[in-house]
Amino acid sequence: MSYRIRSLMTALLMVLLPQVVLAASAPAVRGSGGAISSEHPEATRAGLEILQKGGNAVDAAVATALTLAVVYPEAGNLGGGGFAVVRMDGKITTLDFREVAPARATSDMYLGEDGEPISEASRVGPLAAGVPGSPTGLWELHRKHGRLPWAQVVEPARSLADGGFIVDKHLHRAIASKEEIFSRFPETAAVWLPGGKPPSVGSRMKLPDLAAALRGYAEKGPTAITTGAVAEAVERVSRRHGGILTADDLAAYKAAWREPIRFQAFGWEIASMPLPASGGIILGESLGLLERLGWQAQERYGARRRHLLIEVLRQSFADRFLMGDPTTTAVQPQDLLSDEALEERFKRIRPGQARSSEDLYPTAALVGVESHDTTHLSTVDAEGNLVALTTTINGLFGSCLYVPGAGFFLNNEMDDFAAAPGRPNMFGLVQGEANKVRPGRRMLSSMSPTIAWRSTAEGEEAVALGGRGGSRIPTNTLQVLLNIIADGDPLQSALDRPRLHHQWLPDIVQVEPDTLAPETRAALETMGHGFEVTSGTAKIEAVRRLPDGRVEAGTDPRVRATGAVLQPEL
Ligand code: DON
Repeated sequence: MSYRIRSLMTALLMVLLPQVVLAASAPAVRGSGGAISSEHPEATRAGLEILQKGGNAVDAAVATALTLAVVYPEAGNLGGGGFAVVRMDGKITTLDFREVAPARATSDMYLGEDGEPISEASRVGPLAAGVPGSPTGLWELHRKHGRLPWAQVVEPARSLADGGFIVDKHLHRAIASKEEIFSRFPETAAVWLPGGKPPSVGSRMKLPDLAAALRGYAEKGPTAITTGAVAEAVERVSRRHGGILTADDLAAYKAAWREPIRFQAFGWEIASMPLPASGGIILGESLGLLERLGWQAQERYGARRRHLLIEVLRQSFADRFLMGDPTTTAVQPQDLLSDEALEERFKRIRPGQARSSEDLYPTAALVGVESHDTTHLSTVDAEGNLVALTTTINGLFGSCLYVPGAGFFLNNEMDDFAAAPGRPNMFGLVQGEANKVRPGRRMLSSMSPTIAWRSTAEGEEAVALGGRGGSRIPTNTLQVLLNIIADGDPLQSALDRPRLHHQWLPDIVQVEPDTLAPETRAALETMGHGFEVTSGTAKIEAVRRLPDGRVEAGTDPRVRATGAVLQPEL
């Protein structure tokens, strides 16, 4: 069944029979030869084309990510950064291509003379931008693990930027939602508000500057973007609008190969991203605690399971307060993931009573959360190599400042630092000293690209997953993973099931509609938990290799996303 038909059926079922969807959903797309799951059909198609030409999972992931930079400018990017977990020939590595603070950044750059945060400075315009990591990162990923020639991997994205792509309703709406901010920057408006309006649905969008940058990138690699005319264009537009980003910042950027966060849970091996991504540690800590708390023995939708999950998330996110760039973090992974640390935290969780978040680490109260954007893709090839790659410019269209002569938006990742001490960021996260703005350092992330695998009598099975949604990424990745590794769900039902979110502060549980039966919610309220119903949770994309070697692509029904396999089963 095609994805469109399947997602329509799922949507229909969700409206008509929400309880049934909890128990059963349409299967993931299944077949052989490799699978891709991404948030745009053109990007998934580019990944498949590369697999078809003999590329491996890394070639496909890079082609998919570069295509997202063209057709999904809300989040796909050359002006942002990201993380990738790669399992190649059975060996796990991770690449950190997170942005860094520019050389001229200072810890008080977002505060006025009165010590109050300067409105929007860490979110809109060039001061919000970290030094992009994607041009170096995607190239480095391919340099180490790619199989096809580099230029061939860049080509699907280049040809779409050059020949144009069709503006769909998602892009149209996203631009319309930012019309006022786009119109503050003539460079952005000239491309994205043609004739003063968002491009209409069905119109063809060509991005000649991006096509030229991608041509240089295909020929010369990242220096075509991080030095010369493109880097100078970045400095020029940044300076014009009062920014501090320079061509030297771009030239100095380095991606970093890092040891993954590794742990076992529920009989699976798991590898996820280390700092400056907090996701791997949050997953390791949460899964370690849930195993100790007897997760599998609890009734699946009962109040006790929900209570334990909320308490574990409260704990893991409180510990996130201590994290930052690997060189400034106040806590090492081992401090939270060792048996002693888990045991000590396990003892603090009370079986039938909510704790107060304020008691874990005292801090300030919180305000609301704004809209945001990032994107995750997962790939698997015929040999069973897997990639989980999450990339972001942070907010929708990042800083909303588009660079003419380069063809991409600059990110607004600086807001992921503790830009104003004690104040929540865009995702309501309160962050600590370890995540203060420091030149050349990486801002803490919630991204959680993850690969899990286990041996079975029939062969090895493996899953690559991750998502977007700011602080909700680790909590939602965790729940999808739990559905698979602890409850044995098929891939697509693991993605379909409603999820909840708690991030220590604010001390409230966010639930999707239909997550809790009324009696479960009442029992949890008696324990002291407070709830808010939301549809705005993280979106997770995943692929799976089955023990018999077949592959599956699963997609989150909460967004337009496409999963595809090279040779689908009918
Ligand atoms: O790195 C982070 O944690 C954030 N910049 C991620 C932003 C995000 O997921 C927005 N997405 N929808």
